[in-house]
Amino acid sequence: MTNRARKPYIAGNWKMNLDRARSLDLIKTVKGRLGDGGDREVGFFVPAIYLADVTAVAQGSPLGVGGQNIYFEANGAFTGELAPRMLREVGADRVLVGHSERRHVFREPDDWMGRKVRAALDADLLPIYCVGETLDERKGGKTDRVVKRQLETGFEKVRPDDAHRVTVAYEPVWAIGTGETATTEQAAQAHRTIRKWLVQRLGEAPAHLIRILYGGSVKPDNAKELMAVEDVDGLLVGGASLQADTFLPIIEYDR
Ligand code: PGA
Repeated sequence: MTNRARKPYIAGNWKMNLDRARSLDLIKTVKGRLGDGGDREVGFFVPAIYLADVTAVAQGSPLGVGGQNIYFEANGAFTGELAPRMLREVGADRVLVGHSERRHVFREPDDWMGRKVRAALDADLLPIYCVGETLDERKGGKTDRVVKRQLETGFEKVRPDDAHRVTVAYEPVWAIGTGETATTEQAAQAHRTIRKWLVQRLGEAPAHLIRILYGGSVKPDNAKELMAVEDVDGLLVGGASLQADTFLPIIEYDR
């Protein structure tokens, strides 16, 4: 059963791509196409330096706009970092936490994740908390263990009454930017594991409010199939979110 009790959430993660002019063009195009967007949620995670301009263009549309990272302190001697309240101040309403590139390229430790998710919630930012195994971990049969450990740390300070504001993204590291997508069976298995863990940790009702997105080489030609998988409530899209040509058909996966 595909549970559409949860509103589908299609998110684009631009990473360190595009420039200011192309960012604003893309937002204008998607905004124009989205209408009132009532039956699905669409969000862009943009380079922080463009947030103020992008949120100004997105205003008056249902498009959500967020940052790609935060630090968990509100201020202090943390050169190069951004406090959640700063993203909020320039119009962001959401943020990615624990993206695999933060974990693996920038070596962010697991024990920051709970504090980041909490800091996002406290600043009124909606977090997408990203989890996922590397190829070695999958080959070693450790996928479930790794994902559960990441959930433990990320949800350390999440209460059942916060649950509806948190989204989880399952992004197998080996599928990110590689053109290799998890099979529907692999996605189904991981999403099932995550839902089960959420139920145990938060209780049935709160756990069923949390959307679990799939991410990793999502393209127009696999979006529909992935969205048909049980417990896949949305998609986190990198490369294909950089152009309207490829992102719009993903947003409209069922049309
Ligand atoms: P990709 O990136 O769609 O380019 O694989 C997904 C992500 O990293 O969020």
